[in-house]
Parts: sequence; structure tokens; C-alpha cells
Amino acid sequence: MPAMTNPADWSRAADPARRIGHAVEFHAEIGSTNDRARAALSEPRGQGRAIVADLQTAGRGRRGRTWISPAGANLLVSTAWQPNVTPELTGLLGIAAALAVRDACHSLVPDASLAIRWPNDVVDGTGRKVAGLLVETALEHGELAEAVVGIGINVNWLPTDMPAEIREGATSLQALQGEPIDRVELLDRVLEALNSEAAALERGESPVARLRAAAWLDGRQVEIDTGTERISGVVAGIADDGSLLVDGPTGRLALTVGEVVRVVERAPAAAAP
Ligand code: BTN
Repeated sequence: MPAMTNPADWSRAADPARRIGHAVEFHAEIGSTNDRARAALSEPRGQGRAIVADLQTAGRGRRGRTWISPAGANLLVSTAWQPNVTPELTGLLGIAAALAVRDACHSLVPDASLAIRWPNDVVDGTGRKVAGLLVETALEHGELAEAVVGIGINVNWLPTDMPAEIREGATSLQALQGEPIDRVELLDRVLEALNSEAAALERGESPVARLRAAAWLDGRQVEIDTGTERISGVVAGIADDGSLLVDGPTGRLALTVGEVVRVVERAPAAAAP
């Protein structure tokens, strides 16, 4: 597949000193950047190369969903590498990547209160989704052999232009900041943060304490689809292994996988007489 390079723009986001984000490969149109990043793993200097596209014709979200993004408005990027992470920290890669994306977005939109909705959505203070991550891993003998991290950030896509089914629960950096955001600058910050988070994980440092400080769901009444059942309860926090702690009718559960399908908004407490 021919890669269109656009050295004038996207290469500004590359830094040869980084393991992740040492080079940027730009495509005007591609199936999914995650697939291209995985294929690049077997090419010279393919590890850590950032694959960016203006448009995906087969963009994937978590749980088999389609990721919709109009041409040239947002940041669609994937990168793959062979991480050297201990088995205890393997499940935390998605959390580390989400923190990187959140921090990079926050650095350009400092007044927005950006948080992480388990497992790895970046949301604004009201829970509207700004970015989603699709982390695809391959294990060998129980250890992480390769990781593909795909990131979709709503950048210059105004909610008024989003399809109705997305608009309800999503926003964008431009909407939060009140002005367009430079996608190349954002990519540079995402790659810098991802490179640091990956290095920290490989040094054995857990990102969970920082996730707890940025967690959006704590104390909220939720409904979670685990793939096999629906769990209702109040979120009690994040366990050391990154699972979501939910207090339900049968006691406390630790969910390692799942998707929040409903957040119950509580009525404001009545004023004291
Ligand atoms: C989700 O929230 O469901 C995850 C969305 C991940 C979307 C990104 S866009 C770049 C990369 N390529 C894909 O096909 N998906 C991810």
C-alpha cells in the first residue's frame, strides 16, 4: 500500500530520539491505522512508527464498533511495538496510553477538565467522549509479545457536525477550546507522552495511582456490559491491576473487562429546610 508522506506537516511531530514516535507515516486514506501499524512491525524501523490517516475506510472501535471520523478533522493514529513489560503490568498498557492521550490533550486545552472513563476513554467533565483507544495485543507464553495502540481524538469536529447518535455523548477539543487545534502539534504531544508512559511501564512503574486521580466514574451509579452479563452498581474505584471496582447488589465486584453502557444521573440533593 503506497504511503503518502507529507513531510511539510506531519513529520514535525516526529522525534528520532523517541522509541515511540521516531517517525510519522501519513496516509490520506487507509483501511485502519491499527492494521497498518501491525504490518509495519515487520519492517525496518517499523516499531514505534506513528501511522496517521486523514480518513479510515474501516476504522475500528472497541467491541467491534465502527469508528467514524470525517476526513481531515481529527487525529487518527496508531503505533505498534514489542513491549518489555512484566506480566503484572501487562493489563495496564491501555491505562498508560489513555493517560498519555489525556495529558497531551490537556496540554493544548488546559481549561477543560479532562478525565478518564474506564477502561480508557478520555472524556470532558460531563462525560462526553473526546478520545477513544483501541489496544490490540498478542501474548506469547503469557507475556506481551506485541502491542498496537490506536488512538482516535475528536479534534476539529464540532458536535453540530457529528451524526446524532454520536453527538449525544461526544465532544471535541475545538468545541472545548473555542478555536481550532493544530493536529500536528497534538500528535507530537501524544507521541511524547506515549513514549514516556511506555518507558515508565517498562521500568515497572504502575500508572494506576495517576488513573485514580483522573478517574471520571468514581461514585457514579453505572450499568456495565461485560460481554456476558450486565452489572449495575456504584463505582468504588480502581484496583491495583486496573480493574473497575463496582458495589452491586451481591457485594463488590472487580471487573477486568467491560463497557459502561449507562451512567445514571442522580437528581440533585434537596436543599435543607
Ligand atoms: C473506542 O473508543 O471504541 C476506540 C476507538 C479507537 C479508534 C482509533 S482511530 C485510529 C485507530 N485505528 C482504528 O481502526 N481504530 C483506532
